[in-house]
Amino acid sequence: MRIAHLSSECVPFAKTGGLGDVVGALPKALAARGHECAVWMPFHLPAAEWYRKHNLWPEQALAPFSVDVLGQRYQVGVLRGELPAGAVPVYFIAHDPFFHRGPIHAPNEQGFDDGLWRFTLFVRAALEAMRRLDDKPQVLHAHDWHAALAAMLCAWSGWRDRWFDDVAAMLTIHNLAYQGVYGGDSFPALGLPPESFGPGGVELHGDVNLLKGGIAAADLITTVSPTYAREITTPDGGAGLDAVLRGRGDRLLGILNGIDIEEWNPASDHHLPAHYTVDDLPGKALSRRALCAASGLDPDDPGLVVGAIGRLTGQKGFDVLLGAVPTLCSSGVRIVMLGSGDPALEAEMRHLDASLPGRFKAFLGYDESRAHLIEAGADAFIMPSRFEPCGLNQMYSLAYGTPPIVRRTGGLADTVIGFDGANPATANGFSFDDLTVPALVGAVRFAQQVFGTPVWARLVRNAMKADFSWGRSAIHYEDAYRRARELRGLAW
Ligand code: ADP
Ligand code: GLC
Repeated sequence: MRIAHLSSECVPFAKTGGLGDVVGALPKALAARGHECAVWMPFHLPAAEWYRKHNLWPEQALAPFSVDVLGQRYQVGVLRGELPAGAVPVYFIAHDPFFHRGPIHAPNEQGFDDGLWRFTLFVRAALEAMRRLDDKPQVLHAHDWHAALAAMLCAWSGWRDRWFDDVAAMLTIHNLAYQGVYGGDSFPALGLPPESFGPGGVELHGDVNLLKGGIAAADLITTVSPTYAREITTPDGGAGLDAVLRGRGDRLLGILNGIDIEEWNPASDHHLPAHYTVDDLPGKALSRRALCAASGLDPDDPGLVVGAIGRLTGQKGFDVLLGAVPTLCSSGVRIVMLGSGDPALEAEMRHLDASLPGRFKAFLGYDESRAHLIEAGADAFIMPSRFEPCGLNQMYSLAYGTPPIVRRTGGLADTVIGFDGANPATANGFSFDDLTVPALVGAVRFAQQVFGTPVWARLVRNAMKADFSWGRSAIHYEDAYRRARELRGLAW
């Protein structure tokens, strides 16, 4: 099958979270199964920097052309590179005034959130480039709100544009919290037929809501875990779109993400001081020593070391974790945390770091290498997420023999089997339900009791033996592409 992935993020070129990991890995897994995949993304500044750092540059795929957005002509370049170690082509849409920014999802220099215009240009230019290259996919696979316009153009402009006749559109929701909401007056910029600004279209409460439009238009909608697929159809988990999603319930399904085992594998991870496998664990102990040394923790203290990594946003529940830190640290637990984001949470991390030396270490910022060392060197890994569409860090933890302690929600519920005192044969971590300091402390204390016993070794083994590779998920995506085409009345 020929699949075109459209996304704002793709590892190693641009990433703010798991979306980048997924779009960097899924196309490779599909290609390994014989499909022709391509990734389309904006030529963000970090992508240009990645090429410069590697002394490379993507080739020009097409002569520059211009795209008309609301009467204004934007000149775009189309560059072609490849996903490392995957031979999957990556097409970059270049337009510096829109994409040459450090933080890839930031407003423009005047502080104006120009996301709707940026991603309209991205999607329209990508579709135009596919035409010019005579490279029509069988499925346009749009990831998150940034690319959702592709599904809308496919569904609602098809009557006047025969190019879409044999193309199906799939939308994957990686995070329903980000919807791409802009004033209703920006609708004309999208280039959609006027009737698509309405309840069955891209409009919600008088605004343009790009994710909602994508949900309404896509032939099939997927999200990144089965539990999250159910949660988002409820008022509690629906972020205002639950009714829309219920309306499309027969076209909504959850496919669990995988992990890129070339990047996240303790047997070959070049970020670690030593490698290890499930049958040869000394390298994990060496990684623990290295992590302790880097974090100002006593490497000879046998007490539980808990790692945490993530974007500092309300989603991740780190406010509750930070509230529990003094209690946990007073009972012998040590915590190493890496993250960046919300300034209030960063300040709290700094404060705890200063007041609990040798017990709590805060690393502020984005640091890929340190993330790998934490996954390997910590004894356990905590994710107290308020909601979690899938979550990759708990899967990395499982692969690295670092039992995750998670709140039972979304993809965390689908990947972590909490130890309940009676299931050592299957458990691979710990779970709790209430997002409160006492519930979180209770779960960590329970892990602390189990730590060092033969049951812990069992959990580590169960964790490391689980298969979360992309190969498994790719099969489900294949079925989904087939179904998307069937729903549009197309053969595949
Ligand atoms: P989300 O996409 O919601 O951020 P995921 O768990 O799916 O959550 O993916 C997060 C990804 O981003 C993981 O690869 C994680 O290691 C990485 N990450 C998040 N914050 C940092 C950070 N501060 N430094 C390094 N990697 C980070
Ligand atoms: C989102 C979600 C995360 C998921 C990732 C990749 O950012 O927050 O749970 O793992 O996308 O799908």
